[in-house]
Amino acid sequence: MNLQNRIAVVTGASSGIGLCLSETLLEKGAVVYGLCRREPTLSHESFRWIRTDLSLAGDISHAFRSIREGALQIDLLVNNAGSGLFGNIDTLTPEAWAAVIGVNLTAAFLCTREVVPQMKLQRSGTIVNVASVAGKRGFKGGTAYCASKFGLNGFSEALMEELREYGIRVCAINPGSTDTAFFDRAGISSPKRMDPNQIARIIVQTVELPDDILVDQIVVRPL
Ligand SMILES: NC(=O)c1ccc[n+]([C@@H]2O[C@H](COP(=O)([O-])OP(=O)(O)OC[C@H]3O[C@@H](n4cnc5c(N)ncnc54)[C@H](OP(=O)(O)O)[C@@H]3O)[C@@H](O)[C@H]2O)c1
Repeated sequence: MNLQNRIAVVTGASSGIGLCLSETLLEKGAVVYGLCRREPTLSHESFRWIRTDLSLAGDISHAFRSIREGALQIDLLVNNAGSGLFGNIDTLTPEAWAAVIGVNLTAAFLCTREVVPQMKLQRSGTIVNVASVAGKRGFKGGTAYCASKFGLNGFSEALMEELREYGIRVCAINPGSTDTAFFDRAGISSPKRMDPNQIARIIVQTVELPDDILVDQIVVRPL
């Protein structure tokens, strides 16, 4: 997909991978709608911020209604927003569990169902889900986060099979440790962290592949 004048929606555009990705997409000539709670520090004529709390279904439907008022079609959806709460199972409250699953998994489902009907009609479109290596392998203290990211990978794989016959590409990218505020909050110690700009570039390169090429899963680790 040539990104010039394409319409992209990026969730979690206010920091880390989502902010770098929004900047990279704008450099490529795309129009970017960023869905998040905090206003992104991005001033570009083709960037539009829609304040959205992705844990609220009503906010998500309102955001996509606003996008449809200004854009004829959505070419790219990146379900990137994520939240992590880590700790032992006996201290993990049902509320914390629901919050992690809500943003990392349910919001991806809700955003995806907003874009799929139009993508089916246009017989094109790309959906990228930002999962994690924690969605490939469990780790101590990560029950909720790993469950959400394993879930997102399962969602992606099933969705990929469902939508490929409509010309819609679905890809899950699974980064390892990446140098963002999220990583710091997670309290995980890792001497090696990737630059979020690199993750953004990998996503953009994947999206830019010819429309008849489908990369359905990517795992990226620091060497
Ligand atoms: N950093 C890593 O090591 C790493 C590794 C693998 C995967 N990931 C994944 O990469 C994705 C991006 O994370 P990051 O590392 O870039 O972290 P980050 O800098 O903390 O960014 C997280 C983004 O998610 C948004 N978000 C969180 N809760 C939200 C909510 N309720 N409503 C709307 N937006 C919400 C935040 O926006 P607001 O706060 O403005 O709402 C923010 O823009 C996440 O899915 C994360 O799980 C990260």
